[in-house]
Amino acid sequence: MRRLEGKTALITGAARGIGLAFAETYIREGARVVLADIDTPLAHAEAARLGDAAIAVEMDVTRQDSIDGAVAEAVAHFGQIDILINNAAIFSAAPISEITRDAYARCFDINVAGTLFTLQAVAKHMIARGQGGKIINMASQAGRRGEALVAVYCATKAAVISLTQSAGLDLIRHGINVNAIAPGVVDGAHWDGVDAFFAKYENKAPGQKKREVGDAVPFGRMGVAQDLTGMAVFLATSEADYIVAQTYNVDGGQWMS
Ligand SMILES: NC(=O)c1ccc[n+]([C@@H]2O[C@H](COP(=O)([O-])OP(=O)(O)OC[C@H]3O[C@@H](n4cnc5c(N)ncnc54)[C@H](O)[C@@H]3O)[C@@H](O)[C@H]2O)c1
Repeated sequence: MRRLEGKTALITGAARGIGLAFAETYIREGARVVLADIDTPLAHAEAARLGDAAIAVEMDVTRQDSIDGAVAEAVAHFGQIDILINNAAIFSAAPISEITRDAYARCFDINVAGTLFTLQAVAKHMIARGQGGKIINMASQAGRRGEALVAVYCATKAAVISLTQSAGLDLIRHGINVNAIAPGVVDGAHWDGVDAFFAKYENKAPGQKKREVGDAVPFGRMGVAQDLTGMAVFLATSEADYIVAQTYNVDGGQWMS
């Protein structure tokens, strides 16, 4: 039996990487999926590949008009949103002495304000519809503990864990479960950028940081997007109805909490 039959999910940052893997898995589980991304050409190409169960909508999570427009387009096309995955984010890294206000503001605007105001817009729709819903925020092991060269990104992911708690407590009275997933290190375009950063700041050869972090994972390798899809499906089903305001580590044993 397909576990998300009849459900519609809006996934931000779904044009590539983890968000795209979530979209593919959700469709296999019977859901219809809205790929909401700032990279509109890529989102449209992937939606076309995925077929009738997917549409792409333009969404910049830093702009309220863009969030509202994307939610309205999703509801106009599929009639409802049952599941939101707040997945769009950017990485930011610099030694403390080199952090700029612009980089700080941009990272918080996308990772924190983007998460909060997308959650708010979709929650309003879910409350008005009166049938509850599931909201999943993408946190990170970076939100569990600071890292010397990654202060701003780590702080944004700690904020996502906190927002998940507060929104989870507020929205459960409407039957809306808000929870989060905290991945560890997941291979893909995002980590290519991280690897390039550490190559510069720690004088590593390209690919070296990736090998090191993969070797350090208790499971024995870096994660791939498909390692996260099981939790993303579970949290969107009625089996997770009694789970409120939690952040789950899906990281091969990196973090325990
Ligand atoms: N890859 C990892 O190792 C890792 C680890 C922990 C947590 N995460 C989190 O998982 C999520 C997905 O990570 P990923 O590796 O797939 O990242 P990615 O960089 O591959 O994909 C991010 C997507 O977000 C989109 N995006 C960026 N800015 C946007 C904006 N303003 N509005 C809408 N969309 C925007 C991008 O176009 C892209 O499609 C992120 O929240 C990330 O922080 C990733």
